[in-house]
Amino acid sequence: MVEPKRKVVIAGNWKMNKTIEEAKTLIKEFSIMIKDAPNPVYLAVPFTAIYALSLQSPSPQIVIGAQNMSDAPEGALTGEISGRMLVEAGARFVLLGHSERRHLFGESSQLVNRKVKRALQEGVEPLLCIGETIEQRNANQTEKVLREHLTQSLEGITSDQLQKIIIAYEPVWAIGTGKNATPEQAQEMLAFCRKLISEKWGAQTAAKITLLYGGSVTPENACTLMEQTDIDGLLIGGASLKADSFARIVNDQKLCTTKRKP
Ligand code: PGA
Repeated sequence: MVEPKRKVVIAGNWKMNKTIEEAKTLIKEFSIMIKDAPNPVYLAVPFTAIYALSLQSPSPQIVIGAQNMSDAPEGALTGEISGRMLVEAGARFVLLGHSERRHLFGESSQLVNRKVKRALQEGVEPLLCIGETIEQRNANQTEKVLREHLTQSLEGITSDQLQKIIIAYEPVWAIGTGKNATPEQAQEMLAFCRKLISEKWGAQTAAKITLLYGGSVTPENACTLMEQTDIDGLLIGGASLKADSFARIVNDQKLCTTKRKP
């Protein structure tokens, strides 16, 4: 049996779904189903639900987080949320550079980089998302885009700091489309990311960092993705909005990771 050497994380991203009451109901139902989960389950919930869910603290395995935060510590920035506010509300991690932030809200890798640094400073674990569009893939630019996203979003980050960051490869064409990357495509790109990390931050750091795949993950395809050598977990949107589908993915993971190729 080959045990994964790195921290395995299954993460849910609720996006702009679930009121506080709906969130409380879902997490209650979900925690009962995953009480034997072998690894932490990260949930990136709407800002409004963070405090209520961290107070409810339904399962020690569930780690509550946010979907975005400001790069500034505080100030006249109407509508923004600071890292300190997130920590006080109970968020322990934050998604940064999600493709919806990059493409719908125009976030650059430079801004994402400032957010990553701020999150580390405030003690919130960054979960950095990177990934190419379909046009970029068709133009054979996937590696170029991943290199840019990684190096620019992590500019100035030390090896020690990088070990406190989780990275998710989420091809934009796979997000919310029902068209997931094949396990081979996901493995190829995550192996490429690990190689880049090794070149810039050293082999030891690359061997330790947790890399996730995201994009149309379902209970049906989760296991074959988790079997891949460089996939240490999953970032799940749509399928995390229903307790039973998300719980199936969380509960199946033990079985899947034991099938990993060494
Ligand atoms: P999806 O979303 O699982 O619905 O494709 C993934 C994500 O946006 O993180």
